[in-house]
Amino acid sequence: MKPDLVLTFDDELAQGRALAAQLGVPCETVQCHRFPDGELRLHLPAALPAGVVLLRGLHQPNRKLVQLMIAVPAARELGAREIVLVSPYLAYMRQDLAFTPGEAVSQRHLAAMLAGLVDGLVTVDPHLHRIRSLDEVMPGCRTVVVSAAEALGDWVATQVERPLLLGPDAEAAQWVGQAGLRLGAEHGVCRKQRMGDREVRIWLPELELRDRAVVLMDDVASTGHTLRQACLAVLAAGAASVDVAVTHALFVGDAVAGLRAAGVRHLWSSDTVPHDTAVVPMARSLADAVRAI
Ligand code: R5P
Repeated sequence: MKPDLVLTFDDELAQGRALAAQLGVPCETVQCHRFPDGELRLHLPAALPAGVVLLRGLHQPNRKLVQLMIAVPAARELGAREIVLVSPYLAYMRQDLAFTPGEAVSQRHLAAMLAGLVDGLVTVDPHLHRIRSLDEVMPGCRTVVVSAAEALGDWVATQVERPLLLGPDAEAAQWVGQAGLRLGAEHGVCRKQRMGDREVRIWLPELELRDRAVVLMDDVASTGHTLRQACLAVLAAGAASVDVAVTHALFVGDAVAGLRAAGVRHLWSSDTVPHDTAVVPMARSLADAVRAI
């Protein structure tokens, strides 16, 4: 794609400007008014160029999905001919199986909805566990996936001597593996059983953790309970320190306090979700991905 403009919303202006600077194009915003009954009124620039990059991260996704459903067709009416959505965090990717009869597989339905809306999608480390590629759930939409795992690994290497990288569950193997290979660091994954939103059990792998500097790596931290249980288990096994590096720092509610209380020393993340822990900027990789669409 040859972008002409980055369009974003006021609450993501910093990320929009960073992406626009990397692409060498201007950045403009969509104004959003919320009526007392919850409905939204959007106001876009009155005339749009052909190639529009729409930056909208999908943390706290529900209101933003409605914004996209209105903003994208409106942008086409105002002149956009090609619209690529950049969602550094792509929501609803973890609901990828009907665990009980009747349960909606949100990953499939949300992805199909977005595929019908935009011409291309760029995102970072979507939670792809039971499918290999976004193309399986986004037919007809060009997708490029960027990974933050190697950059997070590089950051860890500047902070921790001889780290042992550990994923809290089997799904994390892909990200821990990428970072581990890049650093030449020992790595492995735990086994996890989830009983509820805030109830998980973790079993450690057969690795010697005594006196090791362990870094827990995952794609997303939400309540933080997965990482918290992993941290407690790792410290009980004699590790010298536990740090956390995640791509998407959702960290809802008291997640950060809970991790600190469990003994986590440092918390690091990429900037796909704006958060105090962000140390790895993704704008350059996102811009490369937009050009590759
Ligand atoms: C799921 O497999 C993900 O990779 C994360 O481990 C999970 O979403 C973390 O959720 P929470 O922080 O609420 O335990």
